[in-house]
Amino acid sequence: MRRIAVLGGTGPEGHGLALRLAAAGEAVAIGSRDPARAETTAAAIRAVLPRADVTAGENTAILADASTVVLAVPFDGLASTLERTAPSLGGKLVIDVVVPVAFRAGAFELAPIPGAASTADLVQRAAPTARVASAFQTLSAKSLLDLATPLDADVLVCADDDAARDEVMSLVRRMPNLRPVDGGPLANARYVEAAAVLLLNLNRRHHARTSIRITGL
Ligand SMILES: NC(=O)c1ccc[n+]([C@@H]2O[C@H](COP(=O)([O-])OP(=O)(O)OC[C@H]3O[C@@H](n4cnc5c(N)ncnc54)[C@H](OP(=O)(O)O)[C@@H]3O)[C@@H](O)[C@H]2O)c1
Repeated sequence: MRRIAVLGGTGPEGHGLALRLAAAGEAVAIGSRDPARAETTAAAIRAVLPRADVTAGENTAILADASTVVLAVPFDGLASTLERTAPSLGGKLVIDVVVPVAFRAGAFELAPIPGAASTADLVQRAAPTARVASAFQTLSAKSLLDLATPLDADVLVCADDDAARDEVMSLVRRMPNLRPVDGGPLANARYVEAAAVLLLNLNRRHHARTSIRITGL
């Protein structure tokens, strides 16, 4: 039951996080709307990390076996994913990495979220008994997927549940060169999500893979 289920694990961000978690020795399940696509990504991770414990399946099916869930679907697929999976999220540690972003007039902007202050807030409202944490929005998928290049970033972790925040910070510590930063309550997730939108615009402007470091702590 310590397996980490990555919903939307076939996309670059979910794949990259699953790869880094598997490299840290965590048991991971890749989720997809299509089990065959999930298996293709799981096989790709096993090809790079032959001893990794990586399974695959349909997004809802992999939840039964998981204590931790990473939500790595695009913002416009989050509501429908929550509709199907929320009943199975109760009691689990749910790590939201979704950035509410829209692309308009040549730039990324923060997308409005009707009825919620952030995607993390949306997740918590949909699954009130889940232990929701917000993290990893400011880490680029390209960096996560590039195992040969050490990561160099801070990861802000926000949660209302102190134990949930600590668990995610411990996971971050297991990925070399990442530093977890206690980002406080889930209410702060909205600002991290906005910072991620800024990084997307900086990446576009500078043809870069930016991330953040907090100084002064
Ligand atoms: N890419 C980055 O660098 C980055 C960095 C930080 C945070 N994030 C966040 O991480 C999340 C995933 O990013 P990504 O770039 O990996 O996204 P993505 O490639 O657009 O989507 C990830 C996966 O989600 C599934 N999906 C697509 N549309 C869906 C829908 N309408 N409903 C349910 N599932 C759907 C797809 O898997 P199946 O078709 O196999 O189901 C897809 O492979 C996003 O919310 C993004 O904001 C991304």
